[in-house]
Amino acid sequence: MDLKLDGKSIVVTGGVSNIGRAITLTLAAEGANVTIADLDDKQAEAVLEEVRTNDTGKAQFVRTDVTKLEEVEALMASAVDKFGGVDVLVNNVGWDQLMFFTQTTPELWEKIIRINYIGVLNCTKTVLEPMIKQGHGAIVSISSDASRQGEPREAVYGGVKAAINGFMKTIAKENGRYGIRCNVVCPGVTVPEEDHEVGERSMWADKTALFTEDQFDKIAASLPLKKLGRPGDIANAVTFLASDAVAGHITGQILSVSGGYSMVG
Ligand SMILES: NC(=O)c1ccc[n+]([C@@H]2O[C@H](COP(=O)([O-])OP(=O)(O)OC[C@H]3O[C@@H](n4cnc5c(N)ncnc54)[C@H](O)[C@@H]3O)[C@@H](O)[C@H]2O)c1
Repeated sequence: MDLKLDGKSIVVTGGVSNIGRAITLTLAAEGANVTIADLDDKQAEAVLEEVRTNDTGKAQFVRTDVTKLEEVEALMASAVDKFGGVDVLVNNVGWDQLMFFTQTTPELWEKIIRINYIGVLNCTKTVLEPMIKQGHGAIVSISSDASRQGEPREAVYGGVKAAINGFMKTIAKENGRYGIRCNVVCPGVTVPEEDHEVGERSMWADKTALFTEDQFDKIAASLPLKKLGRPGDIANAVTFLASDAVAGHITGQILSVSGGYSMVG
């Protein structure tokens, strides 16, 4: 099946680590020109080298803090300059620190809201203008099954991810008339296979801070598909939704990619 992503200009936020890295590499393998926004210069160099080695589409790295609107504006301008526009935006940046709500502080709430939600607002606002002008575009935002299911130790994060789901539906309704599709992918627990897949800033830099090996086994055993998610699982779903050729009549949808953890009718 030809996804017709060859030569498309795609911005991937948080595109150097774990899920974001897999999204960058999968889209580049389809021939897309990827602009990566992240704060991790070292891991970015490694991912750019992987793209070069694979001899697929092109990639550039634009150091960007997605919580800062002026940096996001410079990011999108750079994608337009280098690759002639922005056909697809993947809002992938996300962050959480697992703890029960009673243990959290207002400072932590604000940090979670800024990184997970304000970043999505900044990137979506900035990309809509060029997408409306060109008369097409796709936005895929990475949420979480914590937004659909409720997840102990992820109260604020789960609430913010639910805000992303609602936000994307409205953006889909407001902008469908311009040929712009907006969808959401909700990962479940999605674990890197090898250490080099994550950067120093990654939530997964120290896996054991999130879950013990025993907990990973229990999570896998609890899922209908009896296995943990891998970054490539999410990247494949994002790549499908990014493609007008195969997902051209899909908008405003929330897709869980979580081994059956949540099943929303
Ligand atoms: N991995 C999982 O189990 C899981 C589960 C559900 C949802 N998700 C969501 O999937 C997405 C990717 O998760 P991951 O596991 O790959 O995360 P990760 O921590 O491995 O990578 C996140 C990347 O975002 C970058 N980043 C963080 N703050 C930034 C900012 N302000 N500006 C620019 N870049 C910034 C980091 O440098 C890092 O490279 C997130 O939205 C996350 O919430 C992940």
